[in-house]
Amino acid sequence: MYICLEGIDGAGKSTQVKLIKQWLDDMGYDVELLVEPTSSPVGILIRKMLQNPKATDPDFQKTLGLLFAADRMILKDKIEKTDEKRILISDRCFYSSMAYQNHLEWIKEINRFAKKPDMVILLDIDEKTAVSRCQGTDKFENETFLKKVRHNYLKMAKKEGFIIIDASNGVKLIHHNLKKALASNLGICDGGIIDFKQS
Ligand code: TYD
Repeated sequence: MYICLEGIDGAGKSTQVKLIKQWLDDMGYDVELLVEPTSSPVGILIRKMLQNPKATDPDFQKTLGLLFAADRMILKDKIEKTDEKRILISDRCFYSSMAYQNHLEWIKEINRFAKKPDMVILLDIDEKTAVSRCQGTDKFENETFLKKVRHNYLKMAKKEGFIIIDASNGVKLIHHNLKKALASNLGICDGGIIDFKQS
């Protein structure tokens, strides 16, 4: 089972994926967290490039798109080999490239090896609140840019059937709503048994 959390910078994904892992761990599930960009040399290079003032320029975005796709390749085997008893929770996947790097058809093409998650949850938040939560120095963390990215996410969510959760709430309420969404989609019962839906 491969589950992905998506959302603009400041939506709180990294906090929520950790809380979800803890919740599932406590129920005895075999859970692993994945994070994109990864901590590979490509991921490290990406993080460095995100500090560049030109990061949102179209050509720079194309370079980043290629690097994100290369970085994602590192996770391919792990994701493909996951059996249905194991839960992989990913902080971002190729949908981030589709929302951030635009050029949908090209991004799809260079990511065609990437497995589609079984479930995608979008933590949705307006760009103003999101930026006020950001403390980093990445050049993507600005309202004008994130407004466009949010728009792309919401369009994709409709088309692809993502679950949308309001991320402007506090950490506890977001976690509660995430648990509810996961429980009903994965069939988690009181005893903590997951009856995976047939795909
Ligand atoms: P982020 O999840 O925000 O990492 P951190 O919390 O450590 O800052 O990811 C870093 C940035 O990379 C974020 O602005 C989104 C961007 N990104 C893309 O533009 N395309 C992608 O394909 C991915 C995976 C991330």
